[in-house]
Amino acid sequence: MNDSIFKTLGVAFAVCLVCSLFVSFAAVNLRDTQNLNKINDQRAKVLQAAGIYDETNTNIEEQFSVLEAMFIDFSNNQIVSAIEGLDLDSYDPVEYSRKDGFFTVIPNDEDIAIVKNKENYGKIFILRDENNSINKVVLPIRGYGLWGTLFGYISLAADLNTVEGLEFYSHKETPGLGGEVDNPRWKKIWIGKKIYNNNKNVSLEVIKGAVNPQDQNIDYKVDGLSGATLTSRGVTNMLAYWFGESGYKQVLENLKNG
Ligand SMILES: Cc1cc2nc3c(=O)[nH]c(=O)nc-3n(C[C@H](O)[C@H](O)[C@H](O)COP(=O)(O)O)c2cc1C
Repeated sequence: MNDSIFKTLGVAFAVCLVCSLFVSFAAVNLRDTQNLNKINDQRAKVLQAAGIYDETNTNIEEQFSVLEAMFIDFSNNQIVSAIEGLDLDSYDPVEYSRKDGFFTVIPNDEDIAIVKNKENYGKIFILRDENNSINKVVLPIRGYGLWGTLFGYISLAADLNTVEGLEFYSHKETPGLGGEVDNPRWKKIWIGKKIYNNNKNVSLEVIKGAVNPQDQNIDYKVDGLSGATLTSRGVTNMLAYWFGESGYKQVLENLKNG
């Protein structure tokens, strides 16, 4: 009997089984490619932040090879090439900021950017010139905007103070409002701005409205995103946190002093 209930269920079951085999096969086989794509997406953002991304060259790994990745050991603010048990190429500080034993909870009064957990080991990307001197560095930054955490990279010139570029690779801000952090025109404004003032305090901020071209402190001010004061403030707070004493300040000092 072709229309028996058992036959119908049997066919349905067989179809489900075949489909699930296809899906599992694809998921397992594509896992490595997916992971590599994810790593390459991040690499492209690091290159963009550094201002050295070549859109016409699809070989991201080759482009990325000019950068030297290093760990930051936040226990002593030193830059090191190896940490036992961690793989430098695939190491993602954000992932490790959620892994038991690999992060420190930031005290509330220090957590101006609502980062919550700080990884014990950070990561820095260094571009060197032909004399092996530092040409620029790229550092990961993150902090809360209006709807969630913005994750990005910021690049500094050889003086370890002048901004060379800023790129966010993930955020939840509203397109057209806070989402304008991705607007190339806004990102361009950052180039040449200074993080620290002469007293070595973090001074760079996103202001409300447009910066007056006559402003004496123009080097420390970036135009606000219109209708998105909260996202703008989030970006200011993340700079204050990551370039302050709890973030990269001492690391950059150590790097400067060789
Ligand atoms: C649907 C909706 C989405 C919004 N998205 C953002 C956002 O992504 N970032 C932001 O700072 N403000 C956003 N706002 C506006 C904030 O609520 C707030 O009004 C704004 O940050 C104030 O900025 P202003 O002083 O420049 O107007 C949004 C408002 C609404 C109604």
